[in-house]
Amino acid sequence: MAFVRKDLLGIRDLSSEEIQTILDTAESLREINLREIKKVPTLRGKTVVHLFYEPSTRTRTSFDVAAKRLSADTYSIATSTSSMVKGETFLDTIKNLEAMGPDVFVIRHSASGTPHRIAARTSASVINAGDGMHEHPSQALLDMLTIRQKRGRLEGLNVLIVGDIAHSRVARSNIWGLTKMGAHVTLCAPPTLLPAEAASLPVRVSHQLDTVLGAADVIMVLRLQKERQGQGLLPSLREYAVFYGLDRKKLEKARDDVLIMHPGPMNRGVEISPDVADGPHSVILDQVANGVAVRMALLYLLVHREVPPVRG
Ligand code: CP
Repeated sequence: MAFVRKDLLGIRDLSSEEIQTILDTAESLREINLREIKKVPTLRGKTVVHLFYEPSTRTRTSFDVAAKRLSADTYSIATSTSSMVKGETFLDTIKNLEAMGPDVFVIRHSASGTPHRIAARTSASVINAGDGMHEHPSQALLDMLTIRQKRGRLEGLNVLIVGDIAHSRVARSNIWGLTKMGAHVTLCAPPTLLPAEAASLPVRVSHQLDTVLGAADVIMVLRLQKERQGQGLLPSLREYAVFYGLDRKKLEKARDDVLIMHPGPMNRGVEISPDVADGPHSVILDQVANGVAVRMALLYLLVHREVPPVRG
């Protein structure tokens, strides 16, 4: 199937066929990351610009690694050293960067909808690398790729998402993606950390982790997003960890083959204990490795607007 989009702004917009195409493309490009020389000329002469107006370790680095593995030129704008500190607007910044002829902008911003506004004003492709509490589509795609690799499918699996769902763009993108691909999603959080729209989403909701652990094929643990929370949402971190932190004792109620995922960054000892994060069920570093493959696929598909030829 051809992939004919200019931009990747969210999972909610995508069809299940488009998600399948991205995952299949990532799977076929993944072997480049296993070679001795991890570089192909596919995007030679193309330019990818990283605009991260919020902190990032994994997303920013893996988009950069992905672009470089495909031989694109890359550059980054850091908030603190750009002329936005002198009062230039974000849109003026984009217009000036566009005059230098980029092919792709990768944008992370604290304001939901920023990548959408930029996409409507530039001929370059725009990839949403996380916008406020809205979506983080490349994270959901790498999560789906990881589950598919480990379980051979997404359809019919029970995925439990635990933690600060209200403030999580990762959760929103995963809810859309996983349910479009036929997985069953359960959200588990204290009532104050569930999104207002939870009742209208195609998910089950629970407030008691012990009662929903046993049915899960995958447990996706989320960080408390303190940078987006108001005051008084939680009594204490200690209490949160007792009821919702995933530790070895709680894991005894889970299936023997359950997968433990976390998008990072982790707060060890709060939402997940170190022995679970580093334990045999954890696929957290597989998620990171798959992030490079998924971002290679996105850059390839958005620039070429077709799937890559099958490798012999
Ligand atoms: N998962 C994720 O978005 O991590 P970073 O904030 O480090 O990019």
